[in-house]
Amino acid sequence: MRILVTGGAGFIGANFVHWTRQHRPEVEVTVLDALTYASDGSSLAPLGDAITLVEGDITDAALVDRLVADSDLVVHFAAESHNDNSLVDPSPFLQTNVIGTYTILEAVRRHGVRLHHVSTDEVYGDLALDDPARFTEDTPYNPSSPYSSTKAASDLLVRAWVRSFGVQATLSNCSNNYGPYQHVEKFIPRQITNGIDGLPAKLYGDGLNVRDWIHVDDHNSAVWTIIDKGRLGETYLIGADGEQNNKQVVQAILRALGQPEDSYEHVTDRPGHDLRYAIDSTKLRTELGWAPQYADFDEGLKATVAWYRDNEAWWRPMKDRTEAKYAAAGEAVTAR
Ligand code: NAD
Ligand code: TYD
Repeated sequence: MRILVTGGAGFIGANFVHWTRQHRPEVEVTVLDALTYASDGSSLAPLGDAITLVEGDITDAALVDRLVADSDLVVHFAAESHNDNSLVDPSPFLQTNVIGTYTILEAVRRHGVRLHHVSTDEVYGDLALDDPARFTEDTPYNPSSPYSSTKAASDLLVRAWVRSFGVQATLSNCSNNYGPYQHVEKFIPRQITNGIDGLPAKLYGDGLNVRDWIHVDDHNSAVWTIIDKGRLGETYLIGADGEQNNKQVVQAILRALGQPEDSYEHVTDRPGHDLRYAIDSTKLRTELGWAPQYADFDEGLKATVAWYRDNEAWWRPMKDRTEAKYAAAGEAVTAR
């Protein structure tokens, strides 16, 4: 089997490629990645020549056509992925998430190649903190940010291409991932690397917003389960029952770092900040028999903290740049 992994040099895509090499060594992997600010390709460096890395843009129709024609399956991770960036400049989100997905869809349609489209639970908007409900595959789309609205648009394009043109695709919407190789702009790596640098963790607003955390390897084992056993045209929600508020996560990180649990500060809240995400993954578990392996969030987090301690050479070059970006965007400490 020859697979084309778009965005395979990014956080989840690179972990997917590593997982695939380890568990499916017979699969030939080609990565298509624009190597934006979100990746310099070094996350794939340990694999050497075992995979092919093509530097290019998913909106480049000729390049995408050529690579798709040579593949049996496309796993589509490439995206602009950070909400905070989408609030500063939405334009690349429209280009990559919408036009890029359209470009992939036209290529898989032309060549009759199977597609798995990777998306987020943020397409469903948010839930109240005191609401017992969780997202299911039937929850109406109600995205809040430029990021989540462009991901919602990409999902709807995939569904329309399935229905109108018979494209063979599956979709998944996953909750917040953590693990190795995640960019330091994101919540968990930002706080781990702040802690390593002796800086306080930064909590947006009151820190009570809830995310449903899943280890990236559990996300990727679910993606492979859907590729193997999922019904074409179907959407599967991926989640591991990992609800935590941001303050709880920061305190767990500080414990893992051996630092006082109050080494954090509250900073100006994100505009439109979604309150809570929570996934009901019953369909994936009962229909396809998937189960997460990282049941204990604190253990998974400890391993992630250890990875960042051991791999400073990987994240150090992006740290100052990222903090400068946050400072320029006007993140300010609020008195509390
Ligand atoms: P990431 O930002 O770490 O990686 C994205 C990768 O896509 C980068 O390597 C980047 O260079 C590449 N890319 C960006 N624009 C491109 C373009 N125009 N052409 C080719 N490559 C391009 O993101 P991630 O966190 O690994 O997310 C991967 C996918 O998973 C995204 O589709 C995201 O919406 C989805 N997702 C992420 C999470 C999460 O918690 N991070 C949760 C659910 C779903
Ligand atoms: P993030 O990792 O950006 O993921 P998403 O916006 O897709 O959920 O943020 C996770 C949560 O952490 C979210 O509620 C925003 C919050 N957050 C902070 O409190 N401080 C930070 O420095 C960052 C980056 C995020």
